[in-house]
Amino acid sequence: MRTDKIRILRKSKINAEIKVTPDKSITHRAVMLASISSGECIIHNPLKSKDCYSTVNALKSLGVKIVEDKNNFHIYGVNMEGLCSPKEVIDAGNSGTTVRLLCGIIAGNEIEVKIIGDDSLSRRPMKRIIEPLRLMGVTIDAKEDNYLPLVIRGTKNLKSITWENKIASAQVKSCVLFAGMYAEGVTIYKEPILSRDHTERMLQYLGVKLSIKDTVFSIRGKVKKIKPFEILVPADPSSASYFIAMAVLLPNSSLVIKDVCVNPTRMGFINVLLKMGAKITLSNLRILYNEPVADIVVKSSKLKSIKIEPDDVPAMIDELPLLAVVATQADGVTEIRGAGELRIKESDRIKTIVSSLQHLGAKIIELEDGMIIMGNTTLCADSDNLELDSYNDHRIAMSLAVAGSICHNSFVITNAGCVDVSFPGFWDLYKSL
Ligand code: S3P
Repeated sequence: MRTDKIRILRKSKINAEIKVTPDKSITHRAVMLASISSGECIIHNPLKSKDCYSTVNALKSLGVKIVEDKNNFHIYGVNMEGLCSPKEVIDAGNSGTTVRLLCGIIAGNEIEVKIIGDDSLSRRPMKRIIEPLRLMGVTIDAKEDNYLPLVIRGTKNLKSITWENKIASAQVKSCVLFAGMYAEGVTIYKEPILSRDHTERMLQYLGVKLSIKDTVFSIRGKVKKIKPFEILVPADPSSASYFIAMAVLLPNSSLVIKDVCVNPTRMGFINVLLKMGAKITLSNLRILYNEPVADIVVKSSKLKSIKIEPDDVPAMIDELPLLAVVATQADGVTEIRGAGELRIKESDRIKTIVSSLQHLGAKIIELEDGMIIMGNTTLCADSDNLELDSYNDHRIAMSLAVAGSICHNSFVITNAGCVDVSFPGFWDLYKSL
């Protein structure tokens, strides 16, 4: 299927049981930790998306053997300090998680690595990891001291730090905790609101000493080894969210999404939908490899508007553009505040979603740190020739697909293939419903 331009047609209802792709955040972390383990690890059901291949290929360049079969990655760990300087630059593509988390591991290896990325990633700030890593003793040069290309030189003599971040960022937290595994002493990281905690869960599952009090994380350094492990990656709640939204919005729909990670730090979107009146239940709840997993059952629902406060943002950071789409259908005015981080994602997601939805007739106002969305709006493209760009941002493309499913006439999404960074197969699944 040609995925650069996709015509989006209105849908009537969906009634199905589906699976969505495996979790991106968990796959990145599992690949990295397996690479510095002391033997063969098996990652069952990894996400095979472009972003995850950025991480896999980076680790291959750093000397890690990774063998792939249909449903697994076999990763032959090289021990904590066994990474080698790569012969070529590492291209992280579109993946911020690859750059930011990988730097935490490179920090403790005596190697020099140059990292580049695509246009979008080259515009995203790296100072947030450069500052704490430098304080720990890592040498880093970056364009304007903030952007890729970045050259990082790790050291065997990392010092522990206490680092308080003013923003909630799982990527920065994970970077500092990874580096903290190598440092002399205890590294302490504090964040203002709890961001996704997959790193903490995985480290604890692997027996690394990490203590957690509210949003303060203390990791004991000089970790000698990570034992080889196996892990099964559950489905990605962020990928599930697009289909959850469609089932809620389309009358007479009923949808089951199997085996989804329902980690509370990722449940912001579902919790907000529940407060708005959505009929969503979890069934078959269980814990797999220290992550809660369940089937999500969704029925079409009438929604009322909501106010999103800064504290609500981290648990639904990637779903906020989609919430804007959903809010156009709610009864009342929805307000999203404290979401300034959206401006430095794969695109400026406040600007891109606001302008795209305005083209579909939504009444939506851009704020510096969020948006205001009027509800009860009929979405309608001004002509069948309307082309909306994804801005090469996967979450914008998929949010617009949901908007299109309830839009009165059809329109085209350009650069739609960008969904492959997190959700290969999205368009096939979307069209099959
Ligand atoms: C991610 C953390 C979030 C999220 C991103 C993936 C992760 O970014 O937006 O898609 O896997 O740690 P920040 O931690 O920078 O907010």
